[in-house]
Amino acid sequence: MGPTAPRRRAAPAARESLPGLLTVCLLLPTCASKAGPAFKPNILLIMADDLGIGDLGCYGNDTLRTPNIDRLAEEGVRLTQHLAAAPVCTPSRAAFLTGRHALRSGMDATHGYRVLRWNGGSGGLPQNETTFARILQRQGYATGLIGKWHQGVNCESRTDHCHHPLNHGFDYFYGMPFTLVSECHPGWPPQVAVALGGRLWLSTQMMALGVLTVAAGKTLGLISVPWKFVWGAASLVLLFFGSWFASLGFVRRWNCILMRNHDVVEQPMALESTARLLSGEALSFIQRHKPGPFLLFVSLLHVHVPLMTTKEFQGKSQHGLYGDNVEEMDGLVGGKGMGGWEGGIRVPGIFRWPGVLPAGRVIQEPTSLMDIFPTVVQLGGGQVPQDRVIDGRSLVPLLQGEAEHSAHEFLFHYCGEHLHAARWHDKDSGRLWKVHYVTPRLHPEGAGACYGHGLCPCSGPGVTHHDPPLLFDLSGDPSEAQPLAPGSEPLYGAVLARVEQAVREHRRTLSPVPPQLSPGRIAWKPWLQPCCGHFPFCSCSQDPALREA
Ligand SMILES: *[C@@H]1O[C@H](CO)[C@@H](O)[C@H](O)[C@H]1NC(C)=O
Ligand SMILES: *[C@@H]1O[C@H](CO)[C@@H](O)[C@H](O)[C@H]1NC(C)=O
Repeated sequence: MGPTAPRRRAAPAARESLPGLLTVCLLLPTCASKAGPAFKPNILLIMADDLGIGDLGCYGNDTLRTPNIDRLAEEGVRLTQHLAAAPVCTPSRAAFLTGRHALRSGMDATHGYRVLRWNGGSGGLPQNETTFARILQRQGYATGLIGKWHQGVNCESRTDHCHHPLNHGFDYFYGMPFTLVSECHPGWPPQVAVALGGRLWLSTQMMALGVLTVAAGKTLGLISVPWKFVWGAASLVLLFFGSWFASLGFVRRWNCILMRNHDVVEQPMALESTARLLSGEALSFIQRHKPGPFLLFVSLLHVHVPLMTTKEFQGKSQHGLYGDNVEEMDGLVGGKGMGGWEGGIRVPGIFRWPGVLPAGRVIQEPTSLMDIFPTVVQLGGGQVPQDRVIDGRSLVPLLQGEAEHSAHEFLFHYCGEHLHAARWHDKDSGRLWKVHYVTPRLHPEGAGACYGHGLCPCSGPGVTHHDPPLLFDLSGDPSEAQPLAPGSEPLYGAVLARVEQAVREHRRTLSPVPPQLSPGRIAWKPWLQPCCGHFPFCSCSQDPALREA
């Protein structure tokens, strides 16, 4: 079973829309009384995805308007220039977990595939990458991941779990090794199988038409072919029909599963109970590890959940110190998957830590989702790896008000392997420049929608290359409405030259690594498919005790 069609091909049944990112992160170091140099705070990170399930996914903006999240913002420090490392799940999460651009770990698109497509593929976060969980685990933290992973499962056999969270520094995992796709919801239009299923369906129809024509011709005596041939062709049509039908059902069975540690515990998962199971798991992890130190990463499948979860966590941890970080991908402006425009990558970020961080403070410095890695490592008393490039910078000095400026002078915005844009925060003038080299072509009618269907492309006919590049002054034009021209902006040439130079220096730090999203690694392989019961009829459901809980 192969990967799906190129992104811009219109899928017959449904939009090929992949999950965009809507992230909500929450950092809750607790136990003020223990504060001291060796103090290891408990840390809770919550991330939520905009599921992007066609037009039904209008969760994003509702989440932001909840009183809980608003209160976090009021009581915490708010980042206004917080930027995701990539516009889609797999690379963005890889960058988040490692503090490095996804390209450095091979977790970004080099062959057109921008996210992992199957639990049964062989791509995933490489073994030699170090997550913040692994560093904190070595610092004595109990580390847990609850929710979505989407960083691969196996390399060579169904149970090697080489990319599994438990082999990436997490002591405990409960959740989806993959991500929610529309197939997980029985009755919703399929998503992963759209292109494949679409092709099978088209072939079925064409062949059926052919067979009927030949049969009619033969009946009328217009053509002479043996009936054997007609029946043979008809059986082939049936076979194709069968595969098309199976391709729909099996996507759910193969991709929509829940695991507890190394065991598949629900296959396919029953979506209606998942949110409750996840929040129950999160609470129980916190209760088990309350004395600390613990690091819990709650990576939600569903944007409704954070409200509930947040409320519950707040109730449980009233007596401690908190640092909350809420980040959200702004999916409202522009199409999904845009690598460069602000609408595709800018995310609100809130850190709450009463008693340590000032309430209601707003930081307008450029920061990145990759900064969570060194921040968490520093809070946990660890050290970031010295043998590789780390792109993130600790937010601690900025949050505590010790530093006035973010450690990022330049930030680079990728779409797959293509550098679409770069920003320069010129500390001397305080101005924030943004240079676009490549932008996706937008549909003239659809507000902010890209050409074709689904994700905005990173390269090919769906993008425009700008030479000279587009230049914006984000300090005065945050919505990137007025490109600057050499005539009107005296610094035009100087800014472009400075950013060019930074891009060249940045490029020198990139070295080729094995691509994890290559067609060979993306492709579904039966022998890698996580399965409970007998393959291919993998099936199990959550133990009843948990369901009632
Ligand atoms: C919320 O987001 C959806 C798209 O996801 C959009 O259709 C809707 O207009 C938004 N609502 C508001 C009030 O902005
Ligand atoms: C991990 O291994 C690959 C080769 O398999 C290598 O290219 C890459 O640089 C290594 N990454 C790190 C962080 O050591």
